[in-house]
Amino acid sequence: MRAVIVRRFGGPEVLEIADLPVPEPGVGQLRVRVAAAAVNRIDLSTRSGALSAAGLLPPLPVVGLGWDVAGEVDAVGPGVRRFAVGEKVIGLRDLLSAPGAQAEWVVLDEDALAPAPRTVAPELAATLPLIGLTAARSLALTGLGVGRTLLVTGAAGGVGGLLLELAALRGVRTVAVADAADEELVRGCGADWFVARTERLGAAVRAVVPGGVDAVVDAAVVGVAAHEALRGGGTFVALLAPFAPPPLRATRVVVQEVRADGARLAELSALVDGGQLSLRLADRLPLIEVAAAHERVAAGGLRGRLVLVP
Ligand SMILES: NC(=O)c1ccc[n+]([C@@H]2O[C@H](COP(=O)([O-])OP(=O)(O)OC[C@H]3O[C@@H](n4cnc5c(N)ncnc54)[C@H](OP(=O)(O)O)[C@@H]3O)[C@@H](O)[C@H]2O)c1
Repeated sequence: MRAVIVRRFGGPEVLEIADLPVPEPGVGQLRVRVAAAAVNRIDLSTRSGALSAAGLLPPLPVVGLGWDVAGEVDAVGPGVRRFAVGEKVIGLRDLLSAPGAQAEWVVLDEDALAPAPRTVAPELAATLPLIGLTAARSLALTGLGVGRTLLVTGAAGGVGGLLLELAALRGVRTVAVADAADEELVRGCGADWFVARTERLGAAVRAVVPGGVDAVVDAAVVGVAAHEALRGGGTFVALLAPFAPPPLRATRVVVQEVRADGARLAELSALVDGGQLSLRLADRLPLIEVAAAHERVAAGGLRGRLVLVP
């Protein structure tokens, strides 16, 4: 079967479509016939070697790419209880040995899977796991409840958009930071206040929330400038560990690291079906165009995911 791999780190030219054996599910695992696999920034850092340099990738001769998958179960290993052959599923593959989700088939643990949303196509469903789980867990880490204030940087991005919607469902009031051209988009996701991206983020946010916000989720990886907007004792959720600012004024700084969580993913899938979470597709490309997909993600400016279709 065809799968996207790298054998060495570098630019998009190191991406290969390899011919690998179809993987077999082990105990507690399922094999999914991939209908669509999203491309995320983590794939670019895996390919470039940044993940390896940060000590987050074990030394492997062949690294498989792709975390997000939507498809159909086509084989189940011993001990699998909740899914059967033929079921439409989505999942997060958080192990990096080959093959990854950008392949014709991928094997995942049962606990990494959830029923696919019934109301959207697989291309759209494949965009949910990584950004949805990240947004949901980041919000949980803030511990915020009704009426509290949350700053979301990168609000027009994948994580940011879903986070605004999840926060609104919980009654958390949000300040969205994005490009001036994205105001309508982020307000449509439920943002209560909009702040156009600026070097002086702390002052700009404090102008709309005097005293500072109760928590920040830094999806644009702004770091210290976003921390300036946080009140004393507030919580800062960083999405990339090296860019987590130091805590100051009794703030709490935590780093969110996504991992597979089928139960939480099932809740998110149901919210998509309920019309409470919106997914955005920028484009669908054949697997063979993975290098072009990396170039487009690296260039920025996308307002939806790219998905690969094997
Ligand atoms: N730790 C984890 O568990 C985890 C999981 C998922 C993602 N991540 C990381 O979290 C970040 C967000 O992921 P994502 O998938 O949401 O990425 P994304 O879809 O590319 O969104 C990032 C957004 O931030 C915008 N942006 C960049 N600089 C900004 C600034 N100074 N102010 C406001 N907005 C700014 C980008 O705009 P342009 O497109 O115009 O540049 C884009 O809209 C990435 O760095 C990703 O690697 C971490």
